[in-house]
Amino acid sequence: MNGTRWVYGVLGATLLGAAGLVGAADVSQAPVSKIMVFYPGTSGMEWILTGTEHGGAKGVKRGEPCISCHIDVKAKSDESAEIGEKIAAGEKTKSAALEPNPIKGKPGSIPVMMQAAHDGANLYLRFTWKDTKFSSGNKMDPDHPIKLAFMLEEPGKNEMDSTGGCWATCHTDVRTMPGVKDATKTKYVKGGNLAAGKFFDINQYRSGKGGMMIDGHIADKRVMEGGKALSEAKGELKDGMWTVTFVRKFAGGEGDVKIEPGKAYNFGIAIHDDYTEGRYHYVSFGYTLGIDAKADIDISKL
Ligand code: HEC
Repeated sequence: MNGTRWVYGVLGATLLGAAGLVGAADVSQAPVSKIMVFYPGTSGMEWILTGTEHGGAKGVKRGEPCISCHIDVKAKSDESAEIGEKIAAGEKTKSAALEPNPIKGKPGSIPVMMQAAHDGANLYLRFTWKDTKFSSGNKMDPDHPIKLAFMLEEPGKNEMDSTGGCWATCHTDVRTMPGVKDATKTKYVKGGNLAAGKFFDINQYRSGKGGMMIDGHIADKRVMEGGKALSEAKGELKDGMWTVTFVRKFAGGEGDVKIEPGKAYNFGIAIHDDYTEGRYHYVSFGYTLGIDAKADIDISKL
């Protein structure tokens, strides 16, 4: 009985290991997209929509996505780094600084190289970036030097989703925002309802404790468990470069966005470095991820 189990165990591990390796090896050959992640401070959705504070509020209300104003793909200009630098330094944007509690010396942005591929049943993602080597000495989350999360969403399911990307889940009344007393209020989407499919899917790699993988969702609140689609998350720091890879099944369960070829999904990433947590992270604007479909980032079959 024991022997049979042991054989099953080894077989399972070998098959899984091989699949993981093939995917990881191939995704490293996929085309590279550069994604700038930047420090957003307290610029939650309500700030974005305030015309007296955000120059683009009207455009956002008309449904224009962030990158339509802040990134010019043809001119290869991307304001993310500039925006992050200003906010991280605690400088005023309009009436106030978007980071009232700046972390001294924190870099404003990190350029991330993203590669993605699929095999008809799984999505393979690979992220690499240069370690910032920044240390504030304040370990808010002492277990995890870095964390990388990505969100997926089916366009049209949530308010401001295609316009705001992850900002659709980021509000100025959640915990860690200035003046918020309710320590339990997490990210949410307006009208979020898991059963009705109104949610963002969130997957995360955490570097501590030998590496952890988190598969959750954000509906009326953020839940960092329960997803079934993420099958692997790995990371390493080598020669000053971080590499984080994910294998994510197309199909999942409750709280997992079901991926289908020919469709595009809303997508964004976030990195916590220097043992930070909560809003003290770097985020990307919202992009679309196309599975054999035209989008900001096109993903084709391995
Ligand atoms: C219609 C164009 C437009 C859209 C769409 C837009 N913005 Fe802006 N954004 C602006 C302008 C203009 C400014 C002010 C820039 C300046 O001060 O030079 C600005 C400033 C900002 C700033 C403050 C940076 C600073 O230096 O003052 C942040 C943060 C920001 N936008 C985030 C976003 C996010 C997130 C989205 C999408 C949810 C978005 N923007 C969508 C036009 C836009």
